[in-house]
Amino acid sequence: MESFLQGQTVSKTFNLGGDLTINRLGYGAMRLTGQPGNFGPYADWEGGKTLLRRAVELGVNFIDTAEAYGPGDNEEIIAAALHPYSADLVIATKGGIRKPAPDDIQADGSPESLRCGVEGSLRRLQRDRIDLYQLHRPDPKVPFAESIQALAALQQEGKIRHIGVSNVTLEQLKAAQAIAPIASVQNRFSLADRSHEAILDYCAAQQIAFIPYGSLGAHPLKRGAPLAQADGVLAHIAQSHGVNPTQIALAWLLHRAPNIILIPGTTTIAHLEDNMKAASLQLEEAELAQLNDL
Ligand SMILES: NC(=O)c1ccc[n+]([C@@H]2O[C@H](COP(=O)([O-])OP(=O)(O)OC[C@H]3O[C@@H](n4cnc5c(N)ncnc54)[C@H](OP(=O)(O)O)[C@@H]3O)[C@@H](O)[C@H]2O)c1
Repeated sequence: MESFLQGQTVSKTFNLGGDLTINRLGYGAMRLTGQPGNFGPYADWEGGKTLLRRAVELGVNFIDTAEAYGPGDNEEIIAAALHPYSADLVIATKGGIRKPAPDDIQADGSPESLRCGVEGSLRRLQRDRIDLYQLHRPDPKVPFAESIQALAALQQEGKIRHIGVSNVTLEQLKAAQAIAPIASVQNRFSLADRSHEAILDYCAAQQIAFIPYGSLGAHPLKRGAPLAQADGVLAHIAQSHGVNPTQIALAWLLHRAPNIILIPGTTTIAHLEDNMKAASLQLEEAELAQLNDL
């Protein structure tokens, strides 16, 4: 796997869209919503705000959210905790999904819906422009090009700084690039699920950020066990570094390619602090080789 940064110091930052310098270890805020189903406001609203502020204190300057989380409540807790924002804080949100009930998730990538979504996110996040607006998933009922053209128009109007896509195939990514510059791709990827490796490598070659969700093994498709319950090689490497398997799983991703931006999700400050330490872990070539072979 020649794309690994074997034996090299792993960069801590990435230039999103070429002009926003972000720390590669960010935070995914989705779980700060009502449960089950990430529906409604987070029950421990004040605790959620404290966690978000702690994340920023620990060096997070990239936070991922979406209109669909709540819907709306997740963006609102971010603004409640962090507005007025520090100058370097980059907030990425997503649109193109309607969620009228916890188990009712409907793609809506129509231009009208995306425009309405951007306006709503601007209002809830209390921003004049959204740093990174991601199409949450392609809508099979709407030609993909129409959704991307709508985002390109919103970008030209100054409402979006950078456009990202999520849950896409390589063909869809290339089709989007033919319409507008694409700054990021957010697909599921982790040590336990590498099905999007080809897109990751394509993004690395094009300096497009690749933002894996489920980086700690949530939403598994292939292997059932979350990485926190790892045994074997992962547990052994973790033990030799005196850290948890989850931290090694995150460090492996940071070593995997320089354009990977992590957004691990957590609702506890203890896990947040553990996760942030992964940015400082240096894995040896032999360890990377063992992890690659898992
Ligand atoms: N684009 C999409 O379609 C999509 C889909 C899903 C998610 N996302 C994004 O990806 C982000 C991350 O997704 P996710 O939260 O579902 O998955 P994840 O980051 O893989 O896993 C989060 C889970 O791991 C646990 N965890 C976190 N740190 C831990 C630690 N140090 N030790 C043990 N367990 C730990 C959390 O529980 P605790 O709360 O107990 O720590 C939580 O159950 C979301 O916030 C969202 O922004 C995007």
